[in-house]
Parts: sequence; structure tokens; C-alpha cells
Amino acid sequence: MQFIDDLDVSGKTILMRVDYNVPLKDGRVQDDSRIQASIPTIEYALRQNARIVLCSHLGKPKGQVRSELSLAPAAERLSAILGRDVALAPDCIGEKALEMVRSLEPGQILMLENLRFHPGEEKNDDEFSRELARMGDIYVNDAFGVSHRAHASVVGVTRHAPSCSGGLLLKKEWEYLSKVGDPARPFVLIAGGAKVSSKLGVLENLMHKVDTMLIGGAMANTFIKAQGYSVGTSKVEDDLLDKAREIMQKAIENKVQFYLPVDFMLGEGPDAESAEGVCPFQGIPGHLMALDIGPATCTLFSEVLHKASTVIWNGPMGAFENRPFSQGSRNIAELVSGLKATTMVGGGDTDSLIHELMLQDKFSFISTGGGSFMEFLEGKTLPGFKALEECSSK
Ligand code: 3PG
Repeated sequence: MQFIDDLDVSGKTILMRVDYNVPLKDGRVQDDSRIQASIPTIEYALRQNARIVLCSHLGKPKGQVRSELSLAPAAERLSAILGRDVALAPDCIGEKALEMVRSLEPGQILMLENLRFHPGEEKNDDEFSRELARMGDIYVNDAFGVSHRAHASVVGVTRHAPSCSGGLLLKKEWEYLSKVGDPARPFVLIAGGAKVSSKLGVLENLMHKVDTMLIGGAMANTFIKAQGYSVGTSKVEDDLLDKAREIMQKAIENKVQFYLPVDFMLGEGPDAESAEGVCPFQGIPGHLMALDIGPATCTLFSEVLHKASTVIWNGPMGAFENRPFSQGSRNIAELVSGLKATTMVGGGDTDSLIHELMLQDKFSFISTGGGSFMEFLEGKTLPGFKALEECSSK
């Protein structure tokens, strides 16, 4: 695979796929880590006097234009970081956007509007990919966080772009994570977060690599229910109960220690102003939700983690954005940051929490990826990497 520093990009127009799928609050970027992570590649291209056309998705607008998912706040934040103008095109394809691209001077930056406003993006549509490829002379993928998606801006575009490469962020993630082929043991996975369905598949695959799994977040509810316990009104994927049972069986067969929360912080909903107290996993009342791991679970997880030599953490332990349900995630962050083990973290939510707690320098490595981070670690070839390799060799 080739990277941007292998190419001569001077004076060229670079179509750069970044992952600016950042958390927003009141129309402003709440955590700019992913924007910061793209700065080295942008500055490299600026030093080469290139014209830069940035493209990204934000959220899941499902092919519809949704003004609250405009990339305007990301353009504004990037402009503030760089101290230079970042214009925003009203669309990511079409004549107006193309006109704005053509009027760029060397050293100028244009951001295209949210790719997922078009259904062709997630469908990896060939016509959409061709239109997108018209926005640059060179396509650069610096979006590690979305490189597991076979979407038009990650895969399809490489079939039409005259030249392709990875950015410096992609290079860093690739080089660092590749070193983790043979982890020091015990090797512990902490898995949490709300993307239950996608994480279950990851758990199944990592079953052959880790020694211990610690499960938190909404995902835990599905496992608790799969064991026959009531989870009240908690978030559960009922269609995955059999799969959850299968995973627990596989853990036994593979001698993987599989830990679920033993207690939960309860609430009426993730936005509730206060918690309703703690209860053991067998006793969740019918009208309440499990919204965070409880103190006994933190103690249990702490005992396991103190013996670990390698720790991978993906996904918060509860509804951490709301203070009453953030303590479990905070405790795990403090705990992992203080371990002597090699500690690796991936996932937008987990990154946000670590930055909020200002613990980012206390982890061995913080990936900008969530799903891509996990899939890379389990040895899968990411569609974005495969596409770049095929494009580099054409
Ligand atoms: C992420 O936040 O993990 C990446 O930006 C990918 O987003 P997605 O899960 O919506 O594809």
C-alpha cells in the first residue's frame, strides 16, 4: 500500500476522505479528537502546496438531507484549528461543488457536505463513486475509522480516481496495530457501547485471541436476558438472544473467561436527571433500565484487569454522556489508564470519555477507529485497505 508521503502531491487537488463523524452538541463539535487526528495529513498536503477537498460522513442520515447532520460545525472547528478558511460546499457531488473545487487555489481547503446525504454512499454506488472521484486528482484515505465500510467514498471511489494513497493517520494506525500480532498475556478485551449487533460478531471472532472478556454497556443486557433474567425496560436486541447464548457457550469451549456485570445502576431512561439506585443483575425491576455498571462490577473488573498484560477497550460501560450513568465508564477509564499493561483503546465514544478525563496520554495507543479498530485486530482485511492496495497496483 502507498501513503501520501510516497507521492508527489505538489500543486495537485487531493480528495481526502476523513472521518469527521464527531459528537455534536448545540450545533458545535463536542470532541474534536478525530479532526485533530487528521491535521498531520492536511498540514503535510498544505506544505506541498496542494489543494485540499475533504469529504466525510456524519451520523446516519440514511440517504436524506438532514440539516442537523451538516458538516458545517466540523468545517468551523477545522478552520479554527488551522487558522485559515475552510469553505463548505452545499453538496458532495454535482456542478456547484465541482465549481468550488475548480476555483480552489493551492493551499486552500474545501469541505464537501455529508456524504451520507446521498444513498449512493452507503450502497457503494458506481455512478456516485464516479461523481465523487471527479473532485480530485488524487484520492487519499485518511479515515481509518470508516475503512471497515465498503462505501463509495472508501471503496468505489478508488476505481475511478487516477491515483490513490493512504494518509498519515491511516499509516500510523496501520503500523501501530500491525505490531499487536502476538500480544503479551493475559490478553483482556473490555467491550461495551450501544452498537450491540455489530459488537456481537466481533466478540465471536475475538474469542480465539483473548484470554478474558469483560462485557458492559447495552450489550450486556442481551447476555443477561439470554440467561433468563429480566432486564426491565433496558435496551435489548431480542433477535440476538440465541447468538448471545452461542457466544457464552463458545467462551466455555475456548476457555475464555467471560464476565458480565454483576450489578447495575438503574434509571428511568438514559436522559433521566438522576439514577434510581443500584441492584444486582438478577433483580432489575420491570419499570427501570440498566444504564451503567455498578460498583461491585467495577471491583470485579478491576481484579481481572490488574492481572492483565494487554488490554483492549472498545465502548463505554453505560449511558456515560449523562452524569448519573457515567461512573462505571469513568472508573474503567481511570483503572485502565493506571495499569502497567499495554493498553489500547478504540471507538469514538471511548475516545471522548478519555479526552474528557484528560487521560489520553496514559494509554499506550488510542485508535481513531471503533468497528474498524476491532476488525483490524481480529485479522480481517478492511475494505478500505484492500481498495487502496488494488488501486496502488493498477
Ligand atoms: C465510527 O464512528 O465508528 C465511524 O465513523 C463509522 O461510523 P458508522 O458506524 O456510522 O459507519
